[in-house]
Amino acid sequence: MLLTREEMTFDFGGAKLDAVRDKDVLEWMFNQFLYGEVTGIQVGHWLYDAPDLEAAKFLARQSLEEMQHVDNFLRIMAMLGCQPKPAHPAVRFLATGMMGGSWAEHVALEMAQGEGFVLNAFYAVVDTLDHKPSVDILRRAVKQEERHVEFGEQQTAKAIEGKPWLRRRLLGLALVSMWGVRRLAKFMETRLPPGHVVMSFLPAFLAHANRCAELRLQRIGVLDRPLAELSTAKRALLISEAYGGKLLGGLGSLLTLPLRILPLWPKKKRLTDTYLHDRHITGFALPAGEPEAHPQEP
Ligand SMILES: [Fe+2]
Ligand SMILES: [Fe+2]
Repeated sequence: MLLTREEMTFDFGGAKLDAVRDKDVLEWMFNQFLYGEVTGIQVGHWLYDAPDLEAAKFLARQSLEEMQHVDNFLRIMAMLGCQPKPAHPAVRFLATGMMGGSWAEHVALEMAQGEGFVLNAFYAVVDTLDHKPSVDILRRAVKQEERHVEFGEQQTAKAIEGKPWLRRRLLGLALVSMWGVRRLAKFMETRLPPGHVVMSFLPAFLAHANRCAELRLQRIGVLDRPLAELSTAKRALLISEAYGGKLLGGLGSLLTLPLRILPLWPKKKRLTDTYLHDRHITGFALPAGEPEAHPQEP
């Protein structure tokens, strides 16, 4: 990976998340992760679009790993007594709404950047959650997520070689997903338990995740200078170009908006829409014989 564990680590100053005291916060958090893992079904789409056999083999393995991660989170949630619930709209937007329109967009935005954000979050939970059985499960998933991010970085670098227009387009789209992370930070700031030892770090942690994303974009070669050197106007241009509109982008989006929001035909429901009612999730139980680790109620 282009960023080290140390670079991606956020210093929570030794603060810990407690399995009992912080059950509500943990439930919210693990439900975001659960949704993210269910979006692993999208790997199937990209397997069909893989540019070579090596990439196809990687994706076939990744799809299995993501489905195993679904079970990992169900296990952790069962141990902590957390219920599966819907993910936040900003998370749904980042994980599904930002689904790439091409191979380059997939590897850059969903794998290098999106799974990069996920990795930041996994590291943070590993470092703060005071519940060893959950952390042990997460540590194993982290190794696999690191490989997914690395694949995204390598494939993005390959895709933009000799294509400055693609580099600009990916940068514009990456700026949109960083905006999504800032939206999430704003939402959390209004919902955080006041004075919570770990959660009070969350806005700073999300800013750190965006800095990691920026560094990754620079090291891949998508970004050729620090983001701070890009003016607001330049960023707006990159975003509007990325969405295909250039100067008339805003007008074009306005004209096509009714087409995009009117349900011309019923949208096919996928697992990302239905998973909470899936029998695998509603009927999930810890494997027989596995020591239950329900935290003791105080
Ligand atoms: Fe995963
Ligand atoms: Fe992944």
